[in-house]
Amino acid sequence: MTQTSPTEASPNPTGEPEGPTRDLSGVRRGPLIAGERVTITDPKGRRHSILLAEGATFHTAKGAISHDDLLGGPEGVVVTSVGGTKYLALRPLMSDYTVSMPRGAAVVYPKDAAQIVMGCDIFPGARVVEAGVGSGALSIALLRAIGPTGRLLSYERRADFAEIAERNVDNFLGGRHPGWEVRVGDLATDLGEDAVDRVVLDMLAPWECIEAVGGVLEPGGLVCCYVATTTQLGRTMDTIRAHTGFTEPTAAEHIVRDWHAEGLAIRPNHAGIGHTGFLVTARRLAPGVVTPARKRRPSPGAYGPDYHGPRPPGVVSDPAGE
Ligand SMILES: C[S@@+](CC[C@H](N)C(=O)[O-])C[C@H]1O[C@@H](n2cnc3c(N)ncnc32)[C@H](O)[C@@H]1O
Repeated sequence: MTQTSPTEASPNPTGEPEGPTRDLSGVRRGPLIAGERVTITDPKGRRHSILLAEGATFHTAKGAISHDDLLGGPEGVVVTSVGGTKYLALRPLMSDYTVSMPRGAAVVYPKDAAQIVMGCDIFPGARVVEAGVGSGALSIALLRAIGPTGRLLSYERRADFAEIAERNVDNFLGGRHPGWEVRVGDLATDLGEDAVDRVVLDMLAPWECIEAVGGVLEPGGLVCCYVATTTQLGRTMDTIRAHTGFTEPTAAEHIVRDWHAEGLAIRPNHAGIGHTGFLVTARRLAPGVVTPARKRRPSPGAYGPDYHGPRPPGVVSDPAGE
């Protein structure tokens, strides 16, 4: 999807967050107003994101569209470009916004953000820590789920990414969520001691943060790590096991397949999202409690001579690789 920035076709003269909403849900109702974003879709499904401004024009390959044709009216309307092409205009959903907003780092995809909110049991009023904040896509989903009474503490090592994320999140919500704090720093070393209910890690090396996370999670609280590769997945699982203060971690990949259904032509869509990532989840045990020893032996060769990572307690090197 193409996007106009405030300095391009659609200036945002106030510099205020786009489309202010009072409840910080990011959802607006009523007539379209200057300063908010709409997505227009052409007959081929090509989408453009427009920041509405009085008197502005959006230029497409099929001719210009006047913003004034949209302002003051409802969403869900069709506007016609000077060249005669019809465009459907709707306000972007959270899932549209997070994949089209300006990016510093790669974002958590909507299908995975949805699974994190459910699998990690993020609830209204929860105290949540996340790292890294990247572009802020997951922050938006977490802030919505914790609601106005929750607290989200977001760590990001890179100040430039933190800035992009803050802009994206504030723009979407229509202002600053009162319970959101962004700290520029490394979660592994800079996490304080305040107790939290949930921790979500989306970074290259979440295993470096497990010790710190174990120090702040409430008993029964969840940690969820989003990792892209199988090597990260294995190291994260074994580090959580080796910590001994968590339940046996679970690992899952969530696959969504869109379908084409038209008359007798009913089949999976040819195009779709490929691999995004894996989710590793575990719960914190009470202080001093150690994960009960597993009755099951590790898979043959799992911790053989080629394995050099952390070892769960009781697992010794297996020279035979059996
Ligand atoms: C894939 S991005 C996160 C994307 C973000 N969750 C989103 O949905 O937009 C990973 C980010 O983690 C940050 N990072 C990596 N290790 C970190 C650490 N130990 N503490 C804080 N931030 C970290 C990186 O700088 C990077 O911006």
